[in-house]
Amino acid sequence: MAANIIKRITELKNQLNDYSYCYYVLDQPKIPDAEYDRLFLELQQLEAEHPELITIDSPTRRVGSKPAGFFKQIHHTIPMLSLDNAFASDDVLNFDRRIRERLEIEYEIEYVCEPKIDGIAVSLFYENGILTKAATRGDGTVGEDILQNVRTIPSIPLMLRGSNFPQVLEVRGEVYMPLAGFKKLNFVNPRNAAAGSLRQLDPKITASRSLDIFCYAVGEVIGVTLPIRHSGVLLKIKEYGLKINPEIKVVTGIEKCLDYYQSIGKKRDKLPYEIDGVVYKINDSQLQNKLGFVSRAPRWAIAHKFPAQEELTKVLNIEFQVGRTGAITPVARLEPVFVGGATVSNATLHNIDEVWRKDVRVGDTVIIRRAGDVIPEVVSVVKERRSYDAKPVTLPKYCPVCGCEIVKPEGEVVSRCTGGLYCSAQRKETIKHFASRGALDINGLGDKLVDQLVDKNLVNNVAELYSLTEAKIATLDRHGEKSAQNLLQAIAASKNTTLSRFIYALGIREVGETTAQSLAKYFGDIHKLMEAEISNLEIIPDIGPVVAAHIVIFFRQKHNQELIESLLKSGIHWPKELSVVQPLAGQIFVLTGSMKSMSREDAKEKLHALGAKVSESVSKKTAYVVVGADPGSKLAKAEKLGIKIIDERKLLDILKKKG
Ligand code: IVH
Repeated sequence: MAANIIKRITELKNQLNDYSYCYYVLDQPKIPDAEYDRLFLELQQLEAEHPELITIDSPTRRVGSKPAGFFKQIHHTIPMLSLDNAFASDDVLNFDRRIRERLEIEYEIEYVCEPKIDGIAVSLFYENGILTKAATRGDGTVGEDILQNVRTIPSIPLMLRGSNFPQVLEVRGEVYMPLAGFKKLNFVNPRNAAAGSLRQLDPKITASRSLDIFCYAVGEVIGVTLPIRHSGVLLKIKEYGLKINPEIKVVTGIEKCLDYYQSIGKKRDKLPYEIDGVVYKINDSQLQNKLGFVSRAPRWAIAHKFPAQEELTKVLNIEFQVGRTGAITPVARLEPVFVGGATVSNATLHNIDEVWRKDVRVGDTVIIRRAGDVIPEVVSVVKERRSYDAKPVTLPKYCPVCGCEIVKPEGEVVSRCTGGLYCSAQRKETIKHFASRGALDINGLGDKLVDQLVDKNLVNNVAELYSLTEAKIATLDRHGEKSAQNLLQAIAASKNTTLSRFIYALGIREVGETTAQSLAKYFGDIHKLMEAEISNLEIIPDIGPVVAAHIVIFFRQKHNQELIESLLKSGIHWPKELSVVQPLAGQIFVLTGSMKSMSREDAKEKLHALGAKVSESVSKKTAYVVVGADPGSKLAKAEKLGIKIIDERKLLDILKKKG
């Protein structure tokens, strides 16, 4: 016997036992499920090849791990088993073929297809219709008594509905945390959230967590004959008032199971709970009984898993990217890994504080998560796999692109390169932003092309895009005559735009598309916007002091003024904004008493800007009387006429909301 096989088996057993202890007993998984499954499979295969090496303590010989010991133990009369996993369609087809060979049947088998809920398995005991016991799966034979916690889950009936209850009905299902509830808590994933919440010694804590259940099987049953088909059993327990998953479907033939997998896969992101695959179960219990079980799982069912959304990989490097506004973003360069259905080789680390909080270092083994279309992220580091000499990441002093100083203002999360447009990275990003969809939408001016234009000094700012020529473009890689013409045409077409797109395209900090639209509507003219003061800007909806300051600072800079003039000169134009909105048009305000936050003149100006009139005397036509400190006789008159009286705070609200 090769010594290295014995060594590997021991190693796998120790690792798997340790991981499953952390997972089941401590509720603190160390590695993603996919990695656990892989190690488990490796051990299963080695043991299949060398059965003489199987020992009683092998994780393949039991389900899960021993309970934590804090709860009363409950013995499962019928063991709570697990399921074999299939990852590829072939695994599923083989499963069906094996079954039909064993049963010696030619016809297509009827299966029940169910989502595989990512939660924690529980057993619920109803005696004469009353919930008397509830347990976790534990190691499959002995679980923990969690009755008091389970009783707090609103979807679990304390008493069955209807009448003529069986003497004993054990229902099994998956307790899970709906995603809506999960988002508020700080767990790694919803399954952990469910497990952690259910295994609380204080049921009050469980009660405060939004938990739910889908029931999928029965265990011990005494005093009633249940339907022969699994689908019938599900309907029966549904009648008893237990919750069944609405996506469950009965199909004939394994191909239909694969169709089900596809259609649930498409729905996965929209479901309000997490699933990690689907389960196929033979519907006919007589066939189930003929097939029976292998050590940990029934032969008549299989879990068809979705590609894992979490995977392990190595951090090859941590680089710092420079954004349009100079923001420095650490990015982890990864050993490529297939996760969530795509190959991932980069993951953003958002900012240096996040790198430090997660303590990610070059060379680390990390858990990467990619769910749906969300950008991949580093979930955590597997610290046990860290090399002794891995050093913490430091924030570079100087910009990796232009060499200018990087600053991180006290209390802010974002670090920035101070190079401004001297920094070629910022120039590139500024041009990419200018050409992007919501901005001037220059078709065909992609990222790679912009990089080349800047690197070759052909375009140094957005205005220079408009003086590009065919000859200049021809010097670039992979640019023939035709594509040069197309690009020039797209650039020419972009001159016909709208004011809001133009404002957005300038890339002023904190000015997104919506803010740009408000500014365009409010000012209707680029030069008016360029001259605006902070106080003019603050009365516009959604514009606070910070954004207002960014706008003013941007337009005060001479090079920005010159840039705008040069863009206009090159022919950029837009239809005149006709409707400058005046939300308070025609409304008459009267001010009395003194105000804290602004002078009466300021208030008047702001009201005028929104179209309101400000009058000195109260009349029936007055819309509002604004009362400050020590008001005069105007207040009494307003009260007499029943005019709306508001204080300074309310006025500020109106100015903000209506602006
Ligand atoms: S049936 C004897 N159906 O997955 C068959 N299990 O990996 C027992 N699970 O322990 C399981 N959704 O915790 C079944 N629709 C479903 C399920 C499901 C989730 C869990 C359950 C089980 C584990 C097996």
